Amino acid sequence: MDGLVIVSNRGAVTFFRAESGERTYSRGAGGLVTALNAVSRQSENAVWVSSATSDEDLSVAKEGGPYEVEDLRVSLVEHDPEAYDLMYNRIANPLLWFVHHGLYNLPFSPDFGEDTKDAWERGYVRVNENFAEAVAKMVEGEESPTILLHDYQLYMAPKLVREKVGGDAFVSLFVHIPWPEPDSWRVLPNYIREGVLESLLHANVVAFHTNRYARAFLSTVEEVLGFEVDAENGVVRAGGREVWVRAYPISIDPSEFEELSGSEAVLEEEEYIKSLPGKLLLRVDRMDLSKNIVRGFRAYGRMLEKHPGMRGEVTFLAQLQPSRGGIPEYDAYADEIREVVEEVNEAYGTSEWKPVELSIEDNFPRSVAAYKNYDALLVNAVRDGMNLVAKEAAVVNEKDGVLILSEGAGAYEELKDGAITVNPFDLDEQAEAIYEALTMLEEERREKADLLRRTVHSNTIEDWVEAQMKDIAAYRRR
Ligand code: G6P
Repeated sequence: MDGLVIVSNRGAVTFFRAESGERTYSRGAGGLVTALNAVSRQSENAVWVSSATSDEDLSVAKEGGPYEVEDLRVSLVEHDPEAYDLMYNRIANPLLWFVHHGLYNLPFSPDFGEDTKDAWERGYVRVNENFAEAVAKMVEGEESPTILLHDYQLYMAPKLVREKVGGDAFVSLFVHIPWPEPDSWRVLPNYIREGVLESLLHANVVAFHTNRYARAFLSTVEEVLGFEVDAENGVVRAGGREVWVRAYPISIDPSEFEELSGSEAVLEEEEYIKSLPGKLLLRVDRMDLSKNIVRGFRAYGRMLEKHPGMRGEVTFLAQLQPSRGGIPEYDAYADEIREVVEEVNEAYGTSEWKPVELSIEDNFPRSVAAYKNYDALLVNAVRDGMNLVAKEAAVVNEKDGVLILSEGAGAYEELKDGAITVNPFDLDEQAEAIYEALTMLEEERREKADLLRRTVHSNTIEDWVEAQMKDIAAYRRR
Protein backbone atom coordinates (compact mmCIF):
# COMPACT_ATOMS: atom_id res chain seq x y z
CA MET A 1 0.00 0.00 0.00
CA ASP A 2 1.40 3.41 -0.95
CA GLY A 3 1.15 6.46 1.24
CA LEU A 4 0.18 4.77 4.48
CA VAL A 5 0.30 7.04 7.49
CA ILE A 6 -0.51 5.89 11.03
CA VAL A 7 -1.14 8.57 13.61
CA SER A 8 -1.40 8.19 17.38
CA ASN A 9 -0.53 10.41 20.31
CA ARG A 10 1.68 7.79 21.99
CA GLY A 11 4.30 6.49 19.61
CA ALA A 12 6.23 3.34 18.92
CA VAL A 13 9.53 4.64 20.27
CA THR A 14 10.90 7.22 22.67
CA PHE A 15 14.36 8.59 22.02
CA PHE A 16 16.91 9.56 24.62
CA ARG A 17 20.66 10.14 24.96
CA ALA A 18 22.69 7.29 26.38
CA GLU A 19 25.44 8.09 28.88
CA SER A 20 27.92 7.81 26.04
CA GLY A 21 26.10 10.73 24.40
CA GLU A 22 24.74 8.57 21.62
CA ARG A 23 21.11 8.72 20.53
CA THR A 24 19.22 5.64 21.55
CA TYR A 25 15.57 4.68 22.00
CA SER A 26 13.21 2.39 23.80
CA ARG A 27 10.29 0.74 22.09
CA GLY A 28 6.91 1.34 23.61
CA ALA A 29 5.00 -1.56 25.07
CA GLY A 30 1.28 -1.97 25.53
CA GLY A 31 -1.58 -3.15 23.40
CA LEU A 32 -2.14 -0.15 21.20
CA VAL A 33 1.50 0.17 20.24
CA THR A 34 1.83 -3.55 19.49
CA ALA A 35 -1.31 -3.40 17.39
CA LEU A 36 -0.11 -0.44 15.39
CA ASN A 37 3.20 -2.19 14.79
CA ALA A 38 1.17 -4.83 12.97
CA VAL A 39 -0.57 -2.16 10.91
CA SER A 40 2.71 -0.53 9.98
CA ARG A 41 3.96 -3.85 8.59
CA GLN A 42 1.31 -3.49 5.85
CA SER A 43 3.56 -1.24 3.85
CA GLU A 44 7.31 -0.78 3.63
CA ASN A 45 6.81 2.94 3.39
CA ALA A 46 4.37 3.31 6.23
CA VAL A 47 5.12 6.28 8.44
CA TRP A 48 3.99 6.42 12.06
CA VAL A 49 3.36 9.94 13.29
CA SER A 50 3.19 10.59 17.03
CA SER A 51 3.87 13.24 19.67
CA ALA A 52 7.41 14.06 20.72
CA THR A 53 7.49 13.43 24.46
CA SER A 54 11.17 13.42 25.51
CA ASP A 55 13.96 15.97 24.96
CA GLU A 56 15.60 13.71 22.45
CA ASP A 57 12.26 13.23 20.70
CA LEU A 58 12.24 16.99 20.19
CA SER A 59 15.63 16.87 18.45
CA VAL A 60 14.32 14.09 16.23
CA ALA A 61 11.19 16.16 15.54
CA LYS A 62 13.30 19.17 14.54
CA GLU A 63 15.27 17.10 12.04
CA GLY A 64 12.08 16.55 10.06
CA GLY A 65 11.85 12.93 9.14
CA PRO A 66 10.74 10.27 8.80
CA TYR A 67 13.37 8.70 11.00
CA GLU A 68 14.14 5.01 10.55
CA VAL A 69 14.28 2.73 13.59
CA GLU A 70 14.56 -1.01 13.02
CA ASP A 71 11.60 -1.89 10.79
CA LEU A 72 9.76 1.38 11.43
CA ARG A 73 9.68 4.86 9.94
CA VAL A 74 8.61 7.34 12.56
CA SER A 75 7.88 11.01 12.47
CA LEU A 76 7.57 13.00 15.66
CA VAL A 77 5.43 16.09 16.12
CA GLU A 78 6.58 18.90 18.34
CA HIS A 79 3.90 20.64 20.41
CA ASP A 80 4.08 23.76 22.48
CA PRO A 81 4.44 22.29 26.02
CA GLU A 82 1.50 24.29 27.37
CA ALA A 83 -0.75 23.21 24.52
CA TYR A 84 0.23 19.58 25.07
CA ASP A 85 -0.36 19.87 28.80
CA LEU A 86 -3.85 21.32 28.20
CA MET A 87 -4.66 18.59 25.68
CA TYR A 88 -3.37 15.68 27.76
CA ASN A 89 -3.99 16.75 31.36
CA ARG A 90 -7.10 18.89 30.98
CA ILE A 91 -9.12 17.58 28.04
CA ALA A 92 -8.15 14.12 26.81
CA ASN A 93 -7.52 12.35 30.08
CA PRO A 94 -9.71 13.79 32.69
CA LEU A 95 -12.56 14.98 30.51
CA LEU A 96 -12.95 12.80 27.44
CA TRP A 97 -11.62 9.70 29.19
CA PHE A 98 -14.02 10.22 32.11
CA VAL A 99 -17.04 10.66 29.86
CA HIS A 100 -16.19 7.59 27.78
CA HIS A 101 -15.64 5.39 30.82
CA GLY A 102 -18.52 6.76 32.92
CA LEU A 103 -16.21 7.94 35.71
CA TYR A 104 -17.84 11.23 36.69
CA ASN A 105 -19.74 11.51 39.94
CA LEU A 106 -22.34 13.71 38.24
CA PRO A 107 -23.90 15.48 41.22
CA PHE A 108 -20.47 16.97 41.94
CA SER A 109 -18.41 16.98 38.79
CA PRO A 110 -17.51 18.06 36.16
CA ASP A 111 -17.71 21.86 36.30
CA PHE A 112 -17.12 23.47 32.94
CA GLY A 113 -16.32 27.10 32.33
CA GLU A 114 -14.17 29.42 30.29
CA ASP A 115 -11.06 27.53 31.35
CA THR A 116 -12.48 24.42 29.68
CA LYS A 117 -13.06 26.31 26.45
CA ASP A 118 -9.58 27.74 26.63
CA ALA A 119 -8.03 24.29 27.21
CA TRP A 120 -10.06 22.96 24.32
CA GLU A 121 -9.01 25.66 21.88
CA ARG A 122 -5.44 26.37 22.90
CA GLY A 123 -4.70 22.79 23.87
CA TYR A 124 -6.72 20.02 22.28
CA VAL A 125 -7.50 21.70 18.98
CA ARG A 126 -3.98 23.12 18.70
CA VAL A 127 -2.36 19.72 19.19
CA ASN A 128 -4.72 18.22 16.61
CA GLU A 129 -3.75 21.00 14.18
CA ASN A 130 -0.10 20.12 14.68
CA PHE A 131 -0.89 16.52 13.83
CA ALA A 132 -2.86 17.54 10.74
CA GLU A 133 0.04 19.67 9.51
CA ALA A 134 2.50 16.82 10.06
CA VAL A 135 0.25 14.39 8.19
CA ALA A 136 -0.22 16.81 5.30
CA LYS A 137 3.54 17.11 4.99
CA MET A 138 3.96 13.35 4.96
CA VAL A 139 1.47 12.78 2.14
CA GLU A 140 2.41 15.77 0.00
CA GLY A 141 2.15 14.82 -3.67
CA GLU A 142 0.31 11.56 -2.99
CA GLU A 143 -2.91 11.17 -4.92
CA SER A 144 -4.93 9.10 -2.49
CA PRO A 145 -3.04 8.39 0.69
CA THR A 146 -4.39 6.22 3.49
CA ILE A 147 -4.39 7.98 6.84
CA LEU A 148 -5.22 5.94 9.90
CA LEU A 149 -5.84 8.10 12.96
CA HIS A 150 -6.01 6.50 16.38
CA ASP A 151 -7.89 7.29 19.53
CA TYR A 152 -9.56 9.98 21.57
CA GLN A 153 -6.58 12.33 21.67
CA LEU A 154 -7.11 12.96 17.95
CA TYR A 155 -10.85 13.53 17.59
CA MET A 156 -10.46 16.86 15.77
CA ALA A 157 -7.89 15.46 13.34
CA PRO A 158 -10.29 13.92 10.77
CA LYS A 159 -11.72 17.34 9.94
CA LEU A 160 -8.39 19.16 10.08
CA VAL A 161 -6.65 16.49 8.00
CA ARG A 162 -9.47 16.39 5.46
CA GLU A 163 -9.27 20.15 4.99
CA LYS A 164 -5.59 19.86 4.20
CA VAL A 165 -5.43 16.70 2.09
CA GLY A 166 -8.74 16.75 0.24
CA GLY A 167 -11.49 14.29 -0.57
CA ASP A 168 -9.47 11.54 -2.26
CA ALA A 169 -7.54 10.58 0.82
CA PHE A 170 -8.87 7.65 2.81
CA VAL A 171 -9.11 8.74 6.41
CA SER A 172 -10.19 6.58 9.33
CA LEU A 173 -10.32 7.13 13.04
CA PHE A 174 -10.15 4.17 15.38
CA VAL A 175 -11.61 4.76 18.84
CA HIS A 176 -9.81 2.43 21.25
CA ILE A 177 -11.97 3.22 24.26
CA PRO A 178 -15.67 2.54 24.90
CA TRP A 179 -18.21 4.74 23.17
CA PRO A 180 -20.84 5.65 25.75
CA GLU A 181 -24.57 6.07 25.20
CA PRO A 182 -25.79 9.45 23.83
CA ASP A 183 -26.84 10.81 27.23
CA SER A 184 -23.26 10.68 28.44
CA TRP A 185 -22.29 12.90 25.53
CA ARG A 186 -24.78 15.46 26.72
CA VAL A 187 -22.53 16.10 29.71
CA LEU A 188 -19.99 17.75 27.40
CA PRO A 189 -20.30 21.39 26.31
CA ASN A 190 -21.75 21.83 22.86
CA TYR A 191 -18.53 22.96 21.23
CA ILE A 192 -16.93 19.68 22.29
CA ARG A 193 -19.72 17.20 21.62
CA GLU A 194 -20.76 18.68 18.30
CA GLY A 195 -17.19 19.54 17.41
CA VAL A 196 -16.05 15.96 17.94
CA LEU A 197 -18.97 14.34 16.13
CA GLU A 198 -18.78 16.66 13.14
CA SER A 199 -15.06 16.09 12.90
CA LEU A 200 -15.42 12.32 13.03
CA LEU A 201 -17.85 12.46 10.13
CA HIS A 202 -15.01 13.78 7.95
CA ALA A 203 -13.51 10.28 8.13
CA ASN A 204 -14.39 7.48 5.72
CA VAL A 205 -14.43 4.90 8.47
CA VAL A 206 -14.98 5.35 12.18
CA ALA A 207 -13.96 2.17 13.96
CA PHE A 208 -14.51 0.61 17.38
CA HIS A 209 -13.65 -2.60 19.22
CA THR A 210 -17.21 -3.84 19.68
CA ASN A 211 -20.56 -3.74 17.93
CA ARG A 212 -22.05 -2.18 21.01
CA TYR A 213 -19.77 0.85 20.77
CA ALA A 214 -20.46 1.17 17.04
CA ARG A 215 -24.22 1.16 17.70
CA ALA A 216 -23.82 3.71 20.50
CA PHE A 217 -21.87 5.96 18.13
CA LEU A 218 -24.62 5.80 15.53
CA SER A 219 -27.25 6.70 18.15
CA THR A 220 -25.10 9.58 19.37
CA VAL A 221 -24.81 10.99 15.85
CA GLU A 222 -28.56 10.62 15.43
CA GLU A 223 -29.52 12.18 18.74
CA VAL A 224 -26.87 14.84 19.25
CA LEU A 225 -26.49 16.02 15.65
CA GLY A 226 -29.97 15.07 14.47
CA PHE A 227 -28.50 13.23 11.45
CA GLU A 228 -30.20 10.32 9.82
CA VAL A 229 -28.17 7.13 10.16
CA ASP A 230 -28.45 3.71 8.55
CA ALA A 231 -27.94 1.68 11.70
CA GLU A 232 -28.43 -1.65 9.96
CA ASN A 233 -25.59 -1.14 7.53
CA GLY A 234 -23.53 1.09 9.79
CA VAL A 235 -23.51 4.06 7.44
CA VAL A 236 -23.91 7.80 7.94
CA ARG A 237 -24.07 10.24 5.03
CA ALA A 238 -22.43 13.55 5.78
CA GLY A 239 -21.07 16.32 3.57
CA GLY A 240 -21.50 14.20 0.43
CA ARG A 241 -19.44 11.42 2.02
CA GLU A 242 -20.38 7.96 3.11
CA VAL A 243 -19.03 7.25 6.57
CA TRP A 244 -18.77 3.58 7.50
CA VAL A 245 -19.09 2.76 11.18
CA ARG A 246 -17.45 -0.56 11.94
CA ALA A 247 -16.33 -2.84 14.74
CA TYR A 248 -12.96 -4.60 14.59
CA PRO A 249 -12.18 -6.29 17.90
CA ILE A 250 -8.49 -5.71 18.56
CA SER A 251 -6.34 -8.65 19.57
CA ILE A 252 -2.80 -9.79 20.20
CA ASP A 253 -0.08 -11.77 18.47
CA PRO A 254 -0.25 -15.12 20.32
CA SER A 255 3.12 -16.27 18.95
CA GLU A 256 4.80 -13.18 20.34
CA PHE A 257 3.52 -14.04 23.80
CA GLU A 258 4.36 -17.71 23.47
CA GLU A 259 7.92 -16.73 22.58
CA LEU A 260 8.15 -14.17 25.34
CA SER A 261 7.01 -16.65 27.93
CA GLY A 262 10.16 -18.71 27.34
CA SER A 263 12.53 -15.74 27.45
CA GLU A 264 15.27 -15.41 30.02
CA ALA A 265 13.77 -12.29 31.61
CA VAL A 266 10.41 -13.99 32.11
CA LEU A 267 11.95 -17.19 33.47
CA GLU A 268 13.87 -15.15 36.03
CA GLU A 269 10.72 -13.39 37.19
CA GLU A 270 8.93 -16.70 37.44
CA GLU A 271 11.07 -17.60 40.44
CA TYR A 272 9.54 -14.70 42.34
CA ILE A 273 6.02 -15.55 41.19
CA LYS A 274 6.40 -19.16 42.24
CA SER A 275 7.63 -18.12 45.67
CA LEU A 276 4.27 -16.50 46.48
CA PRO A 277 2.29 -18.70 48.87
CA GLY A 278 -0.93 -20.49 47.91
CA LYS A 279 -2.98 -20.06 44.80
CA LEU A 280 -2.35 -17.01 42.67
CA LEU A 281 -5.06 -14.45 42.05
CA LEU A 282 -3.70 -11.90 39.59
CA ARG A 283 -4.51 -8.54 38.14
CA VAL A 284 -2.33 -6.61 35.68
CA ASP A 285 -3.42 -3.08 34.89
CA ARG A 286 -2.43 0.46 34.25
CA MET A 287 -3.27 2.41 37.43
CA ASP A 288 -6.43 3.88 36.01
CA LEU A 289 -9.75 4.67 37.62
CA SER A 290 -11.53 2.81 34.83
CA LYS A 291 -9.83 -0.44 35.86
CA ASN A 292 -11.81 -0.61 39.12
CA ILE A 293 -8.78 -1.57 41.16
CA VAL A 294 -10.08 -0.41 44.55
CA ARG A 295 -13.33 -2.38 44.27
CA GLY A 296 -11.29 -5.42 43.26
CA PHE A 297 -9.44 -5.33 46.59
CA ARG A 298 -12.64 -4.74 48.51
CA ALA A 299 -14.23 -7.73 46.82
CA TYR A 300 -11.20 -9.86 47.67
CA GLY A 301 -11.49 -8.71 51.30
CA ARG A 302 -15.13 -9.79 51.31
CA MET A 303 -14.19 -13.15 49.89
CA LEU A 304 -11.68 -13.67 52.73
CA GLU A 305 -14.32 -12.56 55.21
CA LYS A 306 -16.95 -14.97 53.94
CA HIS A 307 -14.64 -17.88 53.26
CA PRO A 308 -12.15 -17.97 56.14
CA GLY A 309 -10.87 -21.29 54.82
CA MET A 310 -9.22 -19.36 51.98
CA ARG A 311 -7.02 -17.35 54.36
CA GLY A 312 -3.41 -18.31 53.86
CA GLU A 313 -4.36 -20.31 50.77
CA VAL A 314 -4.11 -17.53 48.17
CA THR A 315 -2.03 -14.49 47.28
CA PHE A 316 -3.51 -11.63 45.30
CA LEU A 317 -0.71 -10.18 43.16
CA ALA A 318 -1.57 -6.79 41.70
CA GLN A 319 0.94 -5.79 39.08
CA LEU A 320 0.11 -2.13 38.43
CA GLN A 321 1.82 0.27 36.05
CA PRO A 322 1.90 3.90 37.15
CA SER A 323 -0.12 6.04 34.77
CA ARG A 324 -1.04 9.69 34.21
CA GLY A 325 0.43 10.88 37.50
CA GLY A 326 -0.07 14.63 37.95
CA ILE A 327 -3.77 14.46 37.12
CA PRO A 328 -5.38 15.00 40.56
CA GLU A 329 -7.96 12.21 40.19
CA TYR A 330 -5.23 9.72 39.26
CA ASP A 331 -3.00 10.74 42.17
CA ALA A 332 -5.91 10.41 44.60
CA TYR A 333 -6.78 7.02 43.14
CA ALA A 334 -3.20 5.79 43.57
CA ASP A 335 -3.39 6.80 47.25
CA GLU A 336 -6.67 5.00 47.66
CA ILE A 337 -5.24 1.84 46.14
CA ARG A 338 -2.40 1.84 48.66
CA GLU A 339 -4.83 2.44 51.52
CA VAL A 340 -7.25 -0.33 50.64
CA VAL A 341 -4.38 -2.80 50.21
CA GLU A 342 -3.13 -1.91 53.66
CA GLU A 343 -6.62 -2.37 55.08
CA VAL A 344 -6.99 -5.85 53.58
CA ASN A 345 -3.49 -6.88 54.61
CA GLU A 346 -4.06 -5.64 58.14
CA ALA A 347 -7.48 -7.21 58.49
CA TYR A 348 -6.55 -10.68 57.28
CA GLY A 349 -2.76 -10.97 57.13
CA THR A 350 -0.68 -12.94 59.60
CA SER A 351 3.03 -13.10 60.35
CA GLU A 352 3.32 -15.83 57.70
CA TRP A 353 0.90 -14.61 55.09
CA LYS A 354 0.31 -11.37 53.22
CA PRO A 355 -3.05 -11.47 51.41
CA VAL A 356 -2.11 -8.84 48.80
CA GLU A 357 1.22 -8.26 47.08
CA LEU A 358 1.07 -4.81 45.55
CA SER A 359 3.68 -4.15 42.90
CA ILE A 360 3.60 -0.69 41.37
CA GLU A 361 6.09 -0.69 38.52
CA ASP A 362 6.40 -1.17 34.81
CA ASN A 363 7.70 -4.73 34.74
CA PHE A 364 6.51 -6.48 31.62
CA PRO A 365 8.56 -9.69 32.11
CA ARG A 366 7.06 -10.05 35.58
CA SER A 367 3.56 -9.59 34.18
CA VAL A 368 4.16 -12.33 31.61
CA ALA A 369 5.63 -14.60 34.30
CA ALA A 370 2.48 -14.02 36.34
CA TYR A 371 0.29 -14.66 33.26
CA LYS A 372 1.83 -18.12 33.04
CA ASN A 373 1.06 -18.98 36.65
CA TYR A 374 -2.24 -17.51 37.79
CA ASP A 375 -5.09 -19.66 39.05
CA ALA A 376 -7.53 -16.79 38.65
CA LEU A 377 -7.24 -13.50 36.76
CA LEU A 378 -9.35 -10.54 37.78
CA VAL A 379 -10.42 -8.14 35.02
CA ASN A 380 -13.20 -6.14 36.67
CA ALA A 381 -12.96 -2.82 34.79
CA VAL A 382 -15.80 -0.32 35.17
CA ARG A 383 -15.50 0.03 31.41
CA ASP A 384 -12.64 -0.84 29.12
CA GLY A 385 -12.35 -0.42 25.34
CA MET A 386 -11.20 -4.05 24.95
CA ASN A 387 -8.77 -5.17 27.70
CA LEU A 388 -5.90 -7.02 26.11
CA VAL A 389 -4.60 -8.38 29.42
CA ALA A 390 -7.42 -10.93 29.30
CA LYS A 391 -6.29 -12.11 25.86
CA GLU A 392 -2.54 -12.03 26.50
CA ALA A 393 -2.88 -13.92 29.75
CA ALA A 394 -5.19 -16.57 28.31
CA VAL A 395 -2.68 -17.65 25.64
CA VAL A 396 0.31 -18.13 27.94
CA ASN A 397 -1.32 -19.37 31.13
CA GLU A 398 -0.17 -22.89 32.01
CA LYS A 399 -2.62 -23.67 34.81
CA ASP A 400 -5.99 -23.50 33.12
CA GLY A 401 -6.48 -20.34 35.13
CA VAL A 402 -9.98 -18.91 35.37
CA LEU A 403 -10.82 -15.48 33.98
CA ILE A 404 -13.16 -13.27 36.01
CA LEU A 405 -14.38 -10.75 33.48
CA SER A 406 -16.38 -7.55 33.83
CA GLU A 407 -19.46 -7.00 31.72
CA GLY A 408 -18.02 -3.54 31.13
CA ALA A 409 -14.93 -4.73 29.24
CA GLY A 410 -14.99 -4.80 25.44
CA ALA A 411 -13.50 -8.30 25.68
CA TYR A 412 -16.81 -9.44 27.17
CA GLU A 413 -18.34 -9.71 23.67
CA GLU A 414 -15.78 -12.33 22.62
CA LEU A 415 -14.69 -13.99 25.87
CA LYS A 416 -17.78 -14.17 28.08
CA ASP A 417 -18.44 -17.87 27.50
CA GLY A 418 -14.95 -18.80 28.67
CA ALA A 419 -15.11 -16.64 31.79
CA ILE A 420 -16.97 -16.04 35.03
CA THR A 421 -18.60 -12.71 34.28
CA VAL A 422 -19.31 -10.03 36.86
CA ASN A 423 -21.05 -6.74 37.35
CA PRO A 424 -18.11 -4.43 38.16
CA PHE A 425 -20.09 -2.57 40.82
CA ASP A 426 -21.31 -5.61 42.75
CA LEU A 427 -18.76 -6.44 45.44
CA ASP A 428 -20.48 -9.59 46.67
CA GLU A 429 -20.81 -10.99 43.18
CA GLN A 430 -17.11 -10.36 42.59
CA ALA A 431 -16.21 -11.88 45.96
CA GLU A 432 -18.13 -15.04 45.06
CA ALA A 433 -16.62 -15.08 41.56
CA ILE A 434 -13.13 -14.98 43.06
CA TYR A 435 -14.02 -17.85 45.37
CA GLU A 436 -15.60 -19.84 42.57
CA ALA A 437 -12.60 -19.28 40.30
CA LEU A 438 -10.12 -20.38 42.97
CA THR A 439 -12.06 -23.52 43.83
CA MET A 440 -13.34 -24.56 40.38
CA LEU A 441 -12.88 -28.21 39.51
CA GLU A 442 -10.19 -29.15 37.05
CA GLU A 443 -12.43 -30.26 34.22
CA GLU A 444 -14.45 -27.06 34.14
CA ARG A 445 -11.31 -24.96 34.39
CA ARG A 446 -9.82 -26.79 31.44
CA GLU A 447 -12.95 -26.37 29.34
CA LYS A 448 -13.11 -22.65 30.01
CA ALA A 449 -9.40 -22.08 29.48
CA ASP A 450 -9.50 -24.05 26.21
CA LEU A 451 -12.37 -21.96 24.96
CA LEU A 452 -10.51 -18.76 25.79
CA ARG A 453 -7.37 -19.93 23.99
CA ARG A 454 -9.33 -20.97 20.92
CA THR A 455 -11.21 -17.69 20.84
CA VAL A 456 -8.03 -15.61 20.97
CA HIS A 457 -6.31 -17.76 18.34
CA SER A 458 -9.32 -17.41 16.03
CA ASN A 459 -9.02 -13.60 15.99
CA THR A 460 -5.40 -12.48 16.22
CA ILE A 461 -3.86 -9.11 15.60
CA GLU A 462 -3.24 -10.14 11.98
CA ASP A 463 -6.97 -10.78 11.54
CA TRP A 464 -7.70 -7.39 13.06
CA VAL A 465 -5.43 -5.67 10.56
CA GLU A 466 -6.69 -7.75 7.65
CA ALA A 467 -10.34 -6.95 8.34
CA GLN A 468 -9.57 -3.25 8.24
CA MET A 469 -7.46 -3.50 5.09
CA LYS A 470 -10.26 -5.41 3.37
CA ASP A 471 -12.73 -2.68 4.23
CA ILE A 472 -10.38 0.03 3.03
CA ALA A 473 -10.12 -1.76 -0.32
CA ALA A 474 -13.90 -2.26 -0.46
CA TYR A 475 -14.49 1.38 0.39
CA ARG A 476 -12.16 2.52 -2.38
CA ARG A 477 -13.79 0.19 -4.91
CA ARG A 478 -17.39 1.06 -4.15
C1 G6P B 1 -5.35 3.51 26.49
C2 G6P B 1 -5.65 4.46 25.37
C3 G6P B 1 -4.39 4.80 24.58
C4 G6P B 1 -3.30 5.26 25.52
C5 G6P B 1 -3.06 4.21 26.58
C6 G6P B 1 -2.00 4.63 27.59
O1 G6P B 1 -5.07 2.25 26.00
O2 G6P B 1 -6.64 3.94 24.52
O3 G6P B 1 -4.64 5.82 23.65
O4 G6P B 1 -2.13 5.50 24.80
O5 G6P B 1 -4.26 3.96 27.27
O6 G6P B 1 -2.26 5.88 28.13
P1 G6P B 1 -1.25 7.09 27.96
O7 G6P B 1 -2.02 8.27 28.48
O8 G6P B 1 -0.10 6.72 28.83
O9 G6P B 1 -0.87 7.23 26.53
